[in-house]
Amino acid sequence: MGVSSDYLKITGLNKYFEKDGERFQVLKDINLSVREGEFICIVGASGCGKSTLLRAIAGLDTEHEGEVVVDGKRVTKPEKTRGMVFQEHRLFPWLNVEDNISYVLNEGSKEEKKKKVEKHIELVGLKGFEKAYPKQLSGGMAQRAGIARALVNQPEILLLDEPFGALDAFTKIQMQQEVKRIHHTEGKTMILVTHDIDEAVYLADRIVIMSSRPGTIKRVVNVELAEPRNRNNEEFLAIRKLIFNEFFAEQQIDLDYVI
Ligand SMILES: Nc1ncnc2c1ncn2[C@@H]1O[C@H](COP(=O)(O)OP(=O)(O)OP(=O)(O)O)[C@@H](O)[C@H]1O
Ligand SMILES: [Mg+2]
Repeated sequence: MGVSSDYLKITGLNKYFEKDGERFQVLKDINLSVREGEFICIVGASGCGKSTLLRAIAGLDTEHEGEVVVDGKRVTKPEKTRGMVFQEHRLFPWLNVEDNISYVLNEGSKEEKKKKVEKHIELVGLKGFEKAYPKQLSGGMAQRAGIARALVNQPEILLLDEPFGALDAFTKIQMQQEVKRIHHTEGKTMILVTHDIDEAVYLADRIVIMSSRPGTIKRVVNVELAEPRNRNNEEFLAIRKLIFNEFFAEQQIDLDYVI
């Protein structure tokens, strides 16, 4: 069997929320098919519905019209086959790194669990920090632990909601490289939400550009750049500019002065 082009398939997704007693539409007619192993980045302005879309894919919120289907099965609840990483690390402050990760494991013997936790601590580059508590970790290290926790149940899909938004520029670049390495070694399907355009161009096979009120998919851009990607090469900068253009097109801003 070849790689299915619609391993993850979102069809006719409409989502509504209520504000001051009035129903408003957050997501409108979202249709998207994702290949197994593909890296998708979703970009869009704050409040356009990126997290809402990710939560629908995760099965954390299923009150919507339309459907999300993964590997032929409709998503109706959160499952171990989909791991999630949030903007803040969401580690338990009272557990150390290895206990935070093993907390989500409920299958296997004590020995098997220990092995899995060790493997994932190593995968995210946290060896030596097994016994550290969240308050003893830097922001980047805590996010590494969050990624290990999301991966330890060997999900098919990793969903990341602005995972590096709170990190400084240097740590962010390092984490982007790490996520890319993990994507290459583990081959998981990854969907990462960001409002950092450089991050999206660096990581994605395809970039989904959303517009706001209601959130719709405005455009999907293929990023056919060779690896390793170089943030300064002309092709990289051309895609970056194309995406900025999508955002600023309506405002008639001369891009050469803003980026
Ligand atoms: N539980 C909720 N109840 C009511 N409205 C909500 C709820 N969650 C989100 N919203 C609203 O839905 C819209 C989309 O929110 P969402 O969090 O998906 O945006 P986002 O694109 O992730 O933004 P950001 O980049 O700031 O994280 C916003 O207007 C938000 O106020
Ligand atoms: Mg969000």
